[in-house]
Amino acid sequence: MTDTSEQNQVLIFDTTLRDGEQSPGATMSHEEKLEIAALLDEMGVDIIEAGFPIASDGDFEAVSQIAAQSKHSVICGLARASTNDIDRCWEAVKHAEKPRIHTFIGTSPLHRDITALTQDEMIAKIQTTVSHARNLCGDVQWSPMDATRTEHDYLCRVVETAIKAGATTINIPDTVGYTAPRESAELIRMLLERVPGADEIIFATHCHNDLGMATANALAAVEAGARQIECTINGLGERAGNTALEEVVMALKVRNDIMPYQTGIDTTKIMHLSRRVSQVSGFPVQFNKAVVGKNAFLHESGIHQDGVLKNVQTFEIMRPEDIGLFAKNIALGKHSGRAALRAKLAELGFELGDNQLKDVFVRFKALADRKKEVYDEDLVALVASSAGTG
Ligand code: KIV
Ligand code: ZN
Repeated sequence: MTDTSEQNQVLIFDTTLRDGEQSPGATMSHEEKLEIAALLDEMGVDIIEAGFPIASDGDFEAVSQIAAQSKHSVICGLARASTNDIDRCWEAVKHAEKPRIHTFIGTSPLHRDITALTQDEMIAKIQTTVSHARNLCGDVQWSPMDATRTEHDYLCRVVETAIKAGATTINIPDTVGYTAPRESAELIRMLLERVPGADEIIFATHCHNDLGMATANALAAVEAGARQIECTINGLGERAGNTALEEVVMALKVRNDIMPYQTGIDTTKIMHLSRRVSQVSGFPVQFNKAVVGKNAFLHESGIHQDGVLKNVQTFEIMRPEDIGLFAKNIALGKHSGRAALRAKLAELGFELGDNQLKDVFVRFKALADRKKEVYDEDLVALVASSAGTG
């Protein structure tokens, strides 16, 4: 089992290899999954959801091998509310030093309709399946899928049933990205207040990003008492994705003054993982993506460049090296000013006199009007052709 006894420790549950891989087109090869799992383990992720063992033989094999290779992380597999699914999941995760079974059922009226179960029949199913899982494994997570659209009274009943049947973590999924921060917090608070035994288990938050609120909703849930955040690298996941690991982890680090919670993540590994997940999933990271986008630490306008050259904190709230990024933060383009050009030229080994700088600057602006970005080679050519202007 995992531990949040350390005051204000928030567990990071990464589901890149399960919910992330469910993104249409994001399928990863067996070797790629093992590599990503090893990187997540090294980064300090508390729980890795490695796959859905009953879904295919490939998934079963991947979860089994990830379980066998894990060093630090709990290895979790997903299972529907069926003893067959749960048995298959256990067969895969049991190789881990710290195994977890995660079982779920859709509890909202829409899902109850699909499964054609009455409220009481569903309660009975939860009781049987969670206790079956608990007989196999000491660490059991249970999720009421579509929790944020489940009636509160019924949600309290199903959560209480799962706790009594032996669940050690209760995950509250916002399956369709429907909730908003205040509601996300109120839901966790309500469960903590109303459900007997709620203070004995860990509440997790699992948010999807359909309305772009996954990160805000996850953080709001933490402030209300959730102590596990479910997330993926680059926010990969079904439809608009899941909460992005890099966003919640860096938000808790940068704004620890107002959100005093700790994670065990080595943030300097973030950039490498982001690039590898993008490469193996084939999902590019949008340029302006928070934290890991290509432009997240780049400054093009003259005012911003002048500011960061004088004091980087004027336009940067986190240090690029804290996420493992060591590239330069100045992009030369048509909005750039003379100070940025001078700094860039100095970096390239050119100390120009005022006249030559003026000449190069005029021609640089003309070039930048025609090109989206001016590269180092362009600058070297400009300096060479202006040599002697003094
Ligand atoms: O979004 C969701 O509800 C899920 C569950 C399986 C936890 O991914
Ligand atoms: Zn999900």
